[in-house]
Amino acid sequence: MALQIDFALVFFSVFFFLLLSVAQSVRTFDVRNYGAVADGRTDNQKAFLQAWTDACNQNGFSILYVPRGVYMLGAVEFSGPCKSPIIFWLRGNLKAPMGPSSGAENWIGFQYVNKLLIKGGGTFDGQGPSAWSSNDCQTNTNCRQLPTTLKFDFVTNSRIQHIRSLNSKNTHFSFFECKNVNVSKVEILAPADSPNTDGIKIGSSTDIRISKSRISTGDDCVAILSGSSNIDVSYVYCGPGHGISIGSLGKYQGEKNVNGVSVRKCIFRRTDNGVRIKSWESPIPVIASDFLFQDIYMDRVRNPIIIDQTYCPHASCNQQTASHVQIKDVTYRNIWGISSTPIAISMECSRQFPCKNIVMTDVVLAHFGPQGPSKSVCSHVNGRHFGQHHPRPCF
Ligand SMILES: *[C@@H]1O[C@H](CO)[C@@H](O)[C@H](O)[C@H]1NC(C)=O
Repeated sequence: MALQIDFALVFFSVFFFLLLSVAQSVRTFDVRNYGAVADGRTDNQKAFLQAWTDACNQNGFSILYVPRGVYMLGAVEFSGPCKSPIIFWLRGNLKAPMGPSSGAENWIGFQYVNKLLIKGGGTFDGQGPSAWSSNDCQTNTNCRQLPTTLKFDFVTNSRIQHIRSLNSKNTHFSFFECKNVNVSKVEILAPADSPNTDGIKIGSSTDIRISKSRISTGDDCVAILSGSSNIDVSYVYCGPGHGISIGSLGKYQGEKNVNGVSVRKCIFRRTDNGVRIKSWESPIPVIASDFLFQDIYMDRVRNPIIIDQTYCPHASCNQQTASHVQIKDVTYRNIWGISSTPIAISMECSRQFPCKNIVMTDVVLAHFGPQGPSKSVCSHVNGRHFGQHHPRPCF
């Protein structure tokens, strides 16, 4: 008995001591204490930056806290490195300035931050409807890009969870040179016809996981670009949108390989594409390998499975050669649903670098319409197939 009481006593004092020491080293920086006003009109740029600077220079653990309310916020760059892990706790609603915000590349940037956690159920409202009409990138190749809502550069060992991005002017979230970042329970929303509103763009980054999220937007739900590896997308609902894309690749000099991408347990509803790999016709050499697309439901998707190595979104491209992007080791497993066009599977690989080791197992995609059942078309594909198939594989 006495021993038990002693044990309990020791246990609780250790627990209490731990609690105390944690409590002492956590400090909260409430933006209101820096003069932030939640009236939806006053620009809170200065208050947010000052709160960030203090939180970032604090030893221990810091929380930058944004309470409920609507805060107008001009373009800000939250830079590290910080002295300790930092939580950006957003309960409120941040609103970007109206209009195209000429000059700013990003609305909110985080750079050189290690151990960042963004959470809190709040919203980043890009106010896109006030800017989309100034996007002329469809016709003007020298167009000025509208700002990205959240840009992460050199952010490591971080998590982004339970937040919402609404009506970004351009891309919603973009990652560059990031490592070990988990994104979960985020909601990304913009209308189907909003221009260039990619959901999540990933470039030159490693170990990025996106899960349990909903992405409804006007461009790619997720786009995985040059130099990315070990990217996992799971339990994501995509639609409307242009699907999940690897690429486009082979457009710029010096592009790096992309390898290790898995897309698992996802739903695509009324999207333009499901899972897509795309590359331009150019002599830029890139290897795109080791992809897994598994357990995916397609509901009325225009191009459920597509590899396009003659990618050219404009009327004419400056094609110099067949694509030099080598696609290999790609597995499609357990993919089913409905294609809204007769061509459910389309694989147009490079004639100079044919796709290698494409494996399809249990892929069943139906089409209902006057043009007959679903078809698959392919060129320059080396692959194998197993299990049940509809349409018949074309390789
Ligand atoms: C992200 O998730 C993976 C897999 O669950 C885990 O191993 C990793 O530590 C997580 N990273 C962060 C920064 O939470």
